[in-house]
Amino acid sequence: MPLLTVEDLSVKYGVAQVLWNVTFNIEKGEILSLIGPNGAGKSTLLKSIVGIVPHTTGRIMFDSSNIGKESVKKRVDYGICYVPEGRRIFADMTVLENIQLGALPKRARANMKDNLKTVFELFPILKERATQLAGTLSGGERQMLAIARALMSEPKLMMIDEPSLGLAPNIVLQVFQLIQDINRKGMTVLLVEQNVRQTLKMSDRTLILENGRIVKSGRSAELMSDEYVMRVYLGV
Ligand SMILES: Nc1ncnc2c1ncn2[C@@H]1O[C@H](COP(=O)(O)OP(=O)(O)OP(=O)(O)O)[C@@H](O)[C@H]1O
Ligand SMILES: [Mg+2]
Repeated sequence: MPLLTVEDLSVKYGVAQVLWNVTFNIEKGEILSLIGPNGAGKSTLLKSIVGIVPHTTGRIMFDSSNIGKESVKKRVDYGICYVPEGRRIFADMTVLENIQLGALPKRARANMKDNLKTVFELFPILKERATQLAGTLSGGERQMLAIARALMSEPKLMMIDEPSLGLAPNIVLQVFQLIQDINRKGMTVLLVEQNVRQTLKMSDRTLILENGRIVKSGRSAELMSDEYVMRVYLGV
């Protein structure tokens, strides 16, 4: 039984259709990556899974529940978490306050203390900077804060939208390493990335979305030597 099943999902903004009959699933414990050009609908797909954007057709099953009509809050309670593009954090609050805000779902509130300990072990830099205003963090630290806050909600599925955006190459590697560490501890991850080479290396399977349609999918290791992927996405 997959953790998430998306069937025949279509999404429109007004009259403009941006997702067309998208079908895929995510197995427990895997890293599934989603790649594709700007405007393909990658963020829209994540938003429709967490419920920020409604879908016009299709079905979303999570942990054997049909969640397609549930509120965002309910879906977060089920264990879906969305780390948006652009590392949105609360600039005027401290690092610690930002992290604590992640523990809103009921089940997560009870375990907040333990989870905080785990998060600080994973991100020692955030522990050092716990009392600093989040607005003064560097780009890489903000990305870590966004992921740390998401972990506090005890998600079963973390959907992370372009964590590498605007980060220096060595910081990108650090963030990818952290995502792999989190995955090794059992987290299922849906990762949207433009950094195709590294993403193929770190994920189990990959979906390619173009113009709102999945045009290719498969094991990431195999896609690395796929003629189309090499030509269009890897520039070889
Ligand atoms: N709220 C909205 N209202 C209308 N159109 C939207 C809205 N959000 C996104 N779109 C449009 O939907 C299409 C898909 O956008 P989306 O943000 O999902 O793409 P993306 O694949 O995440 O792109 P990028 O790689 O640039 O982040 C784009 O053409 C975008 O302009
Ligand atoms: Mg996007």
